This record gives sequence, C-alpha cells and structure tokens, in this order.
Amino acid sequence: MSEELLYKPGLEGVPAARSKVSYIDGRQGVLEYRGYAIQDLAEHASFLEVSYLLIWGQLPTRDELDAFEHDIRYHRRIKYRIRDMMKCFPESGHPMDALQASAAALGLFYSRRALDDPIYIRNAVVRLLAKIPTMVAAFQLIRKGNDPVQPRDDLDYAANFLYMLSERIPDPLAARVFDVCLTLHAEHSMNASTFSAMVTSSTLTDPYAVIASAVGTLGGPLHGGANESVIEMLEEIGSVENVESYVDDCITNKKKIMGFGHRVYKVKDPRATILQGLAEQLFAKFGHDEYYDVALKMEQVVTDRLGTKGIYPNVDFYSGLVYRKLDIPTDLFTPLFAIARVAGWLAHWKEQIGENRIFRPTQIYDGHHDRQYVSIENVNVQYQFSPTPHRGYIQ
Ligand code: ACO
Repeated sequence: MSEELLYKPGLEGVPAARSKVSYIDGRQGVLEYRGYAIQDLAEHASFLEVSYLLIWGQLPTRDELDAFEHDIRYHRRIKYRIRDMMKCFPESGHPMDALQASAAALGLFYSRRALDDPIYIRNAVVRLLAKIPTMVAAFQLIRKGNDPVQPRDDLDYAANFLYMLSERIPDPLAARVFDVCLTLHAEHSMNASTFSAMVTSSTLTDPYAVIASAVGTLGGPLHGGANESVIEMLEEIGSVENVESYVDDCITNKKKIMGFGHRVYKVKDPRATILQGLAEQLFAKFGHDEYYDVALKMEQVVTDRLGTKGIYPNVDFYSGLVYRKLDIPTDLFTPLFAIARVAGWLAHWKEQIGENRIFRPTQIYDGHHDRQYVSIENVNVQYQFSPTPHRGYIQ
C-alpha cells in the first residue's frame, strides 16, 4: 500500500494503541469505563472510586478506597513556593495556562523518576489527583487578589474543591452534583489530550510532564473549550423566541452550533442526558435558570433540523448550566474538565508505561531536495517582517 493511501490527516480513525480503559459505541450512545456503564457509575460511585477503577482496572474494596481517599486527603496541600510562583502569574492569564505551568512545576518538587516502582506510581497518582484541584482553586483566589485557602481535611474531594473556590462549605446536593460531573468527565478514550498524554508518557518522562502536556492540549477551543462557548451562545440568544432564527442562521451560514455534534456520538451523548438531570435537580433546589428554557428549545429545534445528520447535544451542552448554578466562573469550566480528566490521563499513562513503545509516526515529505546554498546577499526577498520598535525586543 502506498504511503499516500495510508495517510490520514489528524490520524482520524487510525488505531494507535490497544486499551482496556474505556469503550464508546457512538451509534448506540454507550460509554463504559473498564466495562461499567457510565450511568451506573454516575449514580452509585464517587469520583475517587471511579478514578481508582480507571487507573487500577478494578473497583476498590472498602479498605482500598478508604486508604486511597485518606492518602489524597492528606496530599492536597501545595508547596508555598508553588503558591508564590502562581502569585507572579498575570491575573488576566487564562486559568488553563496557570494550571499547565503549575502542573509542570510539580515535577521540580517530586523529581525522582522510577516508572518500574509501584510505590512511585501510586504516589504520583495520589499527588496529581490531590493537588490539581488545589492549584485551580488557588489561582482563582490569587487572581481576585486574595490569598488561597488551605484545603479542609474534614471535607471530601468535591466538597473541598467547592470550599476552596468560595471559602464556604457547599450544600451537600451541590457537592454531590459536582462529584458526578467529575465522574462524567473522567475519561473518554483516545481524544487529543489523552493522545498527547500518551505520546509524552511513551518517552518515559515523569508523570507531571505527562499531565502538563495533556492540560495544554485540552485547553484548545476545538477540545475542552466548548463548554464556555455554550454559555456565551445562550447569553447571545437571550430568550426562547430567538432560538429558531439563531439556529436557522447558523445552518444557513454553515456556522457550528456550540454543544452539538460529536466525532464519535451520532445520538445524544449519554453524559449530556445525565448532566441535564443534574441541572434539573439543582434548579429544583436552588431556583430556575432562564437559560435552561433556551437550551431546551435549542435541543428541540436542532434535533428537528439536524437530527438526520446525527447532530445532538454533546457533553458540553448542559455542563455549563450545571456549573453556572454552582456559581463557578465560566473560564474555570475547562480547568474543571482537567481536574476530572487527570484520572483518565493517569490510567492511560499507567497502561502506556506498562507496555511501552515510543510514539514515532512518520511523515510524507513534500518539500525541496538538492537545493544550492546561496550567500545571504543573494537571497531574494520573499517576505518582510514589519520593523519592531526596539531592536531585538518583540512586544
Ligand atoms: N452545528 C451545526 N452543524 C454541525 C455541527 C454543529 N455543532 N456539528 C457538525 N455539524 C454538521 C457539519 O456542518 C457537517 O455538515 P455537512 O455534512 O453538511 O457539511 C456535518 O455535521 C459533519 O460535521 P463535521 O464537522 O465533519 O463533524 P466532526 O465529526 O468533524 O465534528 C465536532 C465534531 C468538532 C464536535 C463538531 O460537531 C463541532 O464543531 N461541534 C461544535 C463544538 C462542540 O460542541 N465541541 C465539543 C465536542 S465534545 C468535546 O470535545 C468534549
């Protein structure tokens, strides 16, 4: 077979690994973590139980989960040097960039690299799951001009994160809903950030570099950023009466409607269905959100117009409404996604280093050959930079 026939831009549909971590059937709307249906896990398990399942392949016993939760609870604090480093970040910087830099910095503090030592692996898993939420919350308070608060050892994973953001103990329903959101975002097979994590893992570098590279990949607008765009879109539409004209305008002008469509799912994303139920629970307890009416109308109109093409709500469509009700600022939606996805990235990291082969795809070279060097005086001007105001200094 010729190289050209093998070439798939973006490796679309090309299997690049064997994995036992998660399974998706996009036509039936099935998502399983290690063989368990996402609906069952969302209803019955906690995020840390699900993380254990993803990373070690089996549901934990009560003792195993207690020990795992205990270790994570007592590793939530971050070094004051990391907090001080974060204080030097510009407040206007995106929280995903702050998270990527902070995750990479963890590698400076825990630099021993022993990928064949199960204790090293467990400690790295514990540290990353424990400290990533603390770093997200710390940047949120620092950029508002406040000192970060210390984690509370008497609160569980989800409640502690909401506490660190708001300095208030959250309502139990809010904490449970947030915990389920983490479970729903924990893993989704070979997407861009997971692939990025696996490529980085395959060089046998440390797990902090693996997570930092995955966070950087998740931050892009084609990947983790759509949940923010959904809220902006609902704000722009404003009311139920404007939905039909907005959708028709998008279709006429070939503009993508945010929160709809998926490369794999051709039916409603099972996570969207669960998130919609969570949003309704929050509205029933804490009051309605007028944008929910707009969202419901959108789902109906988009399904009428584009359902035959397999365009239905994806995970990002209802998650923003849940986070809004939890009083979470819009630009933290993607960092929340990262907090959850650390579990999936670590599961793939562990799987990758267990049977490693460095990723080294090839390319089809279509550049020049056999060119003759010409001295700089004879190089033809092909393009010119606009002059910079100070020599050597780029604004
Ligand atoms: N709105 C309107 N039309 C759409 C949408 C949408 N959201 N998504 C796909 N379509 C249409 C396309 O216009 C195209 O129509 P055509 O065949 O007439 O040209 C057809 O459906 C196929 O679209 P593709 O872009 O080829 O589908 P692909 O699988 O590449 O795209 C993607 C998937 C990127 C998610 C796309 O649906 C999209 O951009 N959605 C909006 C952004 C979004 O919500 N992203 C979050 C995805 S979930 C996640 O990453 C966590």
